[in-house]
Amino acid sequence: MKILGIETSCDETAAAVVEDGRKILSNIIASQIDAHKLYGGVVPEIASRLHCENIIGVCEEALEKAGCKLDEVDAIAVTNAPGLIGALLVGVNFAKGLALAAGKPLIPVHHIKAHAAANYLVYPDFAPPYLCLTVSGGHSQIMEVRSYTDFKVIGRSIDDAAGEAFDKAARALGFPYPGGVYIDRCASGRNILIDSKKYPLPFPKTPNPFDFSFSGLKTAVINLIHNAEQRGETLDKDSLAGSFQYTVCDILVSKLINAALKYGGGSTQIAVTGGVAANSCLREMLTERMREHFEKAPFFPPLPLCGDNAAMVAAQGYYEFKAGNTANMTLNAFASFEL
Ligand code: KG4
Ligand code: ZN
Repeated sequence: MKILGIETSCDETAAAVVEDGRKILSNIIASQIDAHKLYGGVVPEIASRLHCENIIGVCEEALEKAGCKLDEVDAIAVTNAPGLIGALLVGVNFAKGLALAAGKPLIPVHHIKAHAAANYLVYPDFAPPYLCLTVSGGHSQIMEVRSYTDFKVIGRSIDDAAGEAFDKAARALGFPYPGGVYIDRCASGRNILIDSKKYPLPFPKTPNPFDFSFSGLKTAVINLIHNAEQRGETLDKDSLAGSFQYTVCDILVSKLINAALKYGGGSTQIAVTGGVAANSCLREMLTERMREHFEKAPFFPPLPLCGDNAAMVAAQGYYEFKAGNTANMTLNAFASFEL
């Protein structure tokens, strides 16, 4: 079964064709980063307008690269929640028009579930149940993935998402948007013992031990920078980036491992997805720490499938279709939506 996936929830206009939820036939992404960089973050109206401009070309290219015509795809899957509402509406309405014109089933896909599906595209035997950490610009969640379509959240960020914290700390350190990757680059290969001694950062406590709180960490970075400026001192940017990255990863990894030990023990499969899953420190630290207690290494998508893309939407769309989760022409988009 071939599914055309469409993704417009934030600042990537993306379309892809995926076969049986596992095989990528094409995966096209038009990134808007350059347009938003000027403003230091995503400007919702600009995002919606650029999706309007790019969506037809991106879908045409996805079909062409997959070597199929619209009438040869079996269904159209689209992210309809959560995300920027104006951005989501572009993708949803376009997918509705396409499904209506071509007489194809329409499948609504939750963006967080789509991120989880990124791992199905690269690990043929990987399947639920597993524990999934999704860490992106808008979300940080630990979820029990009980089946392809049944998710239970067991921890989430009570303030900033992990990617948001990376981007805000990076902005304070003078890096362009989105700054996560710049922190990763400048922190890589550093001696964390020296960095965290030089710039110690808090490990925030949360009432639910599996929830996250990153806003205090970001504020601590901003305060260190302001205090250094006021004292006329030169701050060691690489060292602060190293300490920040280590602390965020330590929080994510410690909570994820504790959750896995509580919810299933050493046989639990663990997957990490979302833009922050590209972080080299997170990948290394989790792999290393899991060796102690777990039978299997963690599953991470390859870097191009960590961030927003439509192949993951088409992959999740396949499993939603098999579960009977299709929509009619009244389908709407939602800025927030429980799993
Ligand atoms: O999943 P994604 O593309 O979009 C959302 O759904 O939000 O995630 C984007 C986020 C941004 O905050 C970006 O800075 C972060 O992922 N990111 C990283 C890295 N690459 C992307 N954060 C840390 N280290 C990286 N290497
Ligand atoms: Zn995302």
